[in-house]
Amino acid sequence: MFQRSKESLAEHGDKVVGYYDTETHGLYLTGWNRDHIHFGLFEPGQCPKPNEWFTDSEIHARAVVRMVEATVAPAEIGRQHHVVDAGCGVGGTAIHLARTRGCKVTGVNIVDMQLEIAAGKAAQAGLEGLVSFEYADCSRHLPFPDNSVDVVVNIESACHYVDRANFLREVHRILKPSGKIVATDWMARDGLTDAEYEKYIEPICEPYALPSLECPGSYRKILAEADLEILEFEGFHGKDAANVQIVENACKLMAGLMIGGMRTPGLRRLYGQVQPLHEAWSGGYFELRRYCARKAA
Ligand SMILES: C[S@@+](CC[C@H](N)C(=O)[O-])C[C@H]1O[C@@H](n2cnc3c(N)ncnc32)[C@H](O)[C@@H]1O
Repeated sequence: MFQRSKESLAEHGDKVVGYYDTETHGLYLTGWNRDHIHFGLFEPGQCPKPNEWFTDSEIHARAVVRMVEATVAPAEIGRQHHVVDAGCGVGGTAIHLARTRGCKVTGVNIVDMQLEIAAGKAAQAGLEGLVSFEYADCSRHLPFPDNSVDVVVNIESACHYVDRANFLREVHRILKPSGKIVATDWMARDGLTDAEYEKYIEPICEPYALPSLECPGSYRKILAEADLEILEFEGFHGKDAANVQIVENACKLMAGLMIGGMRTPGLRRLYGQVQPLHEAWSGGYFELRRYCARKAA
């Protein structure tokens, strides 16, 4: 039912690199969080007021770490584990896991600029012995031997991949028997009509460099086809709701600036990203979900 990208892997990879080369220092590191490029999970009552700018608050900083913890919890990562963080952003998750679990982590990413930032952060944290980073296009190949990795972490990254089925086959190949993938991803709600997908999901895809979005049902199918047994497949039970308010506040702020006469290309581009996401999320067409799946023993 859902549209599949007609772009080649190389074309889409270039689009993702272009997107993050532009947005890493702007939208994300300075406007969101300096270590984590993903949404947060909030405790009851922790919601920004309308028009409150929230993303540089302590509450927001803790919320993005809480999302890492909620995603990785089912993997029970310990110091004996080798963890691969697929689509590792600027290294926040890899560094957090090495620091809190003492495990070895290899972050992989298609964006060289982010790999450089991540390596700098690991060095600054004195964690070069445990944490390393390397280039990989997760749609194509994960640069690890068969049966060599204990846990794959994948946070808000696979939504960018042209070939998620191949990514999951690669995850299966590199995991040791009983190894796990723990992931959070952007998804379309199950059961959308083609018209709803076209109206609410497609407008998100282009501005965020996403070839398409899975829904929970299609995700379950490609996990099963990759021979990965689903142990958990869950939403966040409202703990992600404050993100919708954050996105709404950003939309209103930008709309106000544009009405006030500030119509720079950068502001219009940002508004073109955030506004369709707000429409889809607040309308219940878009959701964040996490899953844990295991390779057979
Ligand atoms: C929304 S960010 C999430 C980053 C990180 N997981 C985090 O939670 O902070 C998506 C990340 O996926 C990476 N990415 C996108 N497509 C990729 C691909 N085909 N192969 C490897 N990394 C990719 C991006 O460069 C970016 O770092």
